[in-house]
Amino acid sequence: MGFILAAAGSAVGLGNVWRFPYVTGENGGGAFLLIYLGIVFSIGVSVLVAELIIGRSTQLDPAGAFRKLAGGAWPIVGYMSILTAFVILSFYCVIAGWTVAYMIKSITGSVLTANPEDIGGVFDAFITDPLEPVLYTALFIGLTVFVALGGVASGIERAARILMPALFVILLVLVARSVTLDGAVEGIAFFLEPDFSKVTWETLLAALGQAFFSLSLGMGAMITYGSYMQRHDDIAGSALAVTVLDALVAVLSGLVILPAVFAFGAAPTAGPGLTFITLPSIFAQMPFGFLFAALFFFLLAIAALTSAVALLEVVIAYFMDEGSANRKKVAVTAGIATFALAVPASLSLGVMSGFTIGGKVLFDALDYLTNNITLPLGGLLVALFLGWVLKHRGEEEFVDGSTLAPALVGAWRFIIRYVAPVAILLILINGLGFI
Ligand code: PHE
Repeated sequence: MGFILAAAGSAVGLGNVWRFPYVTGENGGGAFLLIYLGIVFSIGVSVLVAELIIGRSTQLDPAGAFRKLAGGAWPIVGYMSILTAFVILSFYCVIAGWTVAYMIKSITGSVLTANPEDIGGVFDAFITDPLEPVLYTALFIGLTVFVALGGVASGIERAARILMPALFVILLVLVARSVTLDGAVEGIAFFLEPDFSKVTWETLLAALGQAFFSLSLGMGAMITYGSYMQRHDDIAGSALAVTVLDALVAVLSGLVILPAVFAFGAAPTAGPGLTFITLPSIFAQMPFGFLFAALFFFLLAIAALTSAVALLEVVIAYFMDEGSANRKKVAVTAGIATFALAVPASLSLGVMSGFTIGGKVLFDALDYLTNNITLPLGGLLVALFLGWVLKHRGEEEFVDGSTLAPALVGAWRFIIRYVAPVAILLILINGLGFI
């Protein structure tokens, strides 16, 4: 149970509430949702199992795990994971900083009192400011390092046991409010009625990347968490529970954000600001909206914190397992390095927006590089590793400790050997425009 909570804490975060709704909005709605769920419950859950197997069987960080199991060039997959975790952490903390800021601003009133049209302006003014969001980012990175230092790690786990169900309940309340807004019907249809004419290879790549991001896959987090599992903990059962929870939170978030987008006349293609523009409009229409808002952003910030801790843990585990460095030194150094990348990422949305990489400002470039390239690539290599290198050894690990697994091992083997590698490769090549 403890492991499931920790892994779910890593999976459920900004990816579900902030990223999923706007990526769905950008990719045409209903068809994207179906494709996303299809990927999550085939490739996603199977790669999650694979990563937990690598971690549990070696009890090591990603690079060490690959070295122990196979050696050769395989540890490079681990190094790539660690670098990816670091890059994701940097822009993740920027968004998490916005969440903390909105929690505070909900009470001081500065984000809720504006009318719906002004809310977008308030948001833009905030994220493009050269100082304010950077301070909130620093605050959030500080919190993450503090939790990772261990003193409060068990405290946050205990707190998350109460706070995560609370986030779930408040999401349900928000769904009820959002779908009953005037004009919400159009948004519900957008989200739930698939229109396959909008599907391209880019849509598939976006769904694949979002699935890996949301399940914390392709970058070593679940290998690292798997290494903290007991030798005979149930991998299949845990993976399934985490996947169902994670998908549920994403769908609920979509049902909050997208109906409201249409009700308030915003554009579903608005991008990364979508959640922050829409939610305040919903809260502004609720009795005691400011209290709901503060509570919601607080719970979201905690969900982001348990995810950020998982990302930082990948880096910490690597330096501790490989170089036997001490936790405190690694955590603080990694925190400072994260901040050094987070600052330009944040500024790239404002004063530094003139500086672009391949037509993208730094924030978007970091997001694209990880979600659309290194996460799918990491997932592909993990699948190949389990399916073609570990083979029977992996299957023995899969059934060890699980009552559910023997019935699923055939399907899992098939997905991990054939479906996942072929699908990921096709989507990557076509989605990136190589063909
Ligand atoms: N899964 C987290 C989320 O959806 C983000 C994350 C990615 C956390 C990778 C850890 C590792 O918010």
